[in-house]
Amino acid sequence: MTGRFITLEGGEGVGKSTQAKALAAALRARGVEVVETREPGGSPGAEAIRQLLLQGAVDRWSAEAEALLFAAARSDHVARTIRPALDLGKWVVCDRFLDSSIAYQGIVGHVGADAIRQLHEIGSGGFLPDRTLLLQMEGRAAAERTRTRDTEGPDRFGARDSAYHDRIGFAFEVLADEDPTRIRKVDAAGTAAEVTGRLVAALADLL
Ligand SMILES: Nc1ncnc2c1ncn2[C@@H]1O[C@H](COP(=O)(O)OP(=O)(O)O)[C@@H](O)[C@H]1O
Ligand SMILES: [Mg+2]
Repeated sequence: MTGRFITLEGGEGVGKSTQAKALAAALRARGVEVVETREPGGSPGAEAIRQLLLQGAVDRWSAEAEALLFAAARSDHVARTIRPALDLGKWVVCDRFLDSSIAYQGIVGHVGADAIRQLHEIGSGGFLPDRTLLLQMEGRAAAERTRTRDTEGPDRFGARDSAYHDRIGFAFEVLADEDPTRIRKVDAAGTAAEVTGRLVAALADLL
């Protein structure tokens, strides 16, 4: 029996990393074996590419170069970490995946959603999550959460202005509306435990 591949998506500060841990714990409490991973990164090669992507000046890469680096990292991550875990029957909970590339580089970065999907076809055979949980929250509230988190300052993406982050939120919303079977919108407001409850509910048909 193959496992399930679950991704968490959404803008900066909505609680993806917090919920990736909490969701993995909630699934383990139900007897599911879970591998937690994240993008960019999740395998040794992809973690090396992560440094290139998140460090340095905001304009270090063109949107196109950035999209290629993300696709290369994802290819390695899928081949070396995600597929092997699923083949062993484990569930994989991943903090960001393809939809982030489509939103950031594809829609807001102007590379185009279809071009990002083509890169994913080349890199990872078009491999998609069984379910994507889109955490949604009003921009200012999410920015407030990141301000209390980022004591050492934001990364290349977090450093951009609020209009940029609003466009990202809208891009994710469009993606969810295009594919409501795979992508479920989840309200990210409230306590972490409340949000985790909503995420588990959005996986009920897979459990
Ligand atoms: N439900 C919540 N209520 C209050 N603060 C939260 C909640 N979820 C996460 N946080 C805090 O908000 C900040 C951003 O959360 P994080 O999980 O890092 O978001 P993301 O990974 O989506 O950028 C962190 O400091 C985290 O501890
Ligand atoms: Mg995070």
